[in-house]
Amino acid sequence: MNPSSYLIAGGSSGLGAACARRLADRGTGCVIADLQPPDDTLRQELGERCHFCATDVTDESTVQAALQTAQDRFGPVRGVVICAGIIRGERILGASGPFDLNLFRRVIEVNLVGTFNVLRLAAQVMRDNAPNADGERGVIITTSSVAAFEGQIGQAAYAASKGGVASLTLPAARELGRFGIRVVSIAPGVFETPMVQQLPEKVRQSLEAQTVFPTRLGRPNEFASLVLHILDNPMLNGDVIRLDGGMRMGAK
Ligand SMILES: NC(=O)c1ccc[n+]([C@@H]2O[C@H](COP(=O)([O-])OP(=O)(O)OC[C@H]3O[C@@H](n4cnc5c(N)ncnc54)[C@H](O)[C@@H]3O)[C@@H](O)[C@H]2O)c1
Repeated sequence: MNPSSYLIAGGSSGLGAACARRLADRGTGCVIADLQPPDDTLRQELGERCHFCATDVTDESTVQAALQTAQDRFGPVRGVVICAGIIRGERILGASGPFDLNLFRRVIEVNLVGTFNVLRLAAQVMRDNAPNADGERGVIITTSSVAAFEGQIGQAAYAASKGGVASLTLPAARELGRFGIRVVSIAPGVFETPMVQQLPEKVRQSLEAQTVFPTRLGRPNEFASLVLHILDNPMLNGDVIRLDGGMRMGAK
């Protein structure tokens, strides 16, 4: 599959950053497409095999530019990992009134529309790749969440956005299969990332306690291990894979 490139949307932090580290370790050229640049430590770790492109996943032109940069610098884009996302909690009927509709729209816009935007533009560039011996032209990995299936109180917007990402997987895989493009989604439980660090301590402890085994938060590197496996295993397609230590989230 070499030379080829990978693009990680939301790769400056958390789960996406772990993927960038593992791909850089393999010597694979990759582009981090994120609103914010990686910090200096991550940048130094990644070195020259990784390039940052300021990108908003909801914006067509910046995503296209990031894909083009990946292609120009490192070769045909063979893999795209979409980790960009936001979490915002609010009750449907809260103390200060009903759920803010603009907030609901924003979460759907970034998590669902943004994911779809990257997926469709990635598919467009992958379609022109030369197929490998198996006929494969590219792999697109999205990030859903266990909240797609067990959304908690206060997670209406987030759960709806991640449910959309999960539901998108099979129709996208069915449609893009004829171009040799696979689509797989990962539904993580709760992982130690800046997104989760912003949650109140009480909430984090409660989530950790709902994990069957191991009874701890997931490590970003464990998410990256699954990403690498999906990239390498051509039989994985059209599925949403839970990565959650057996966790089933309760109502709160
Ligand atoms: N951490 C968890 O426990 C967990 C669990 C389930 C699902 N997820 C999902 O995994 C993904 C990664 O989460 P994380 O925990 O690494 O979060 P994070 O906050 O550490 O990283 C998210 C990254 O996305 C980027 N981003 C946000 N909006 C963007 C936009 N419009 N365009 C481009 N980049 C944007 C941020 O700048 C950030 O670098 C998210 O989609 C999240 O919903 C995380």
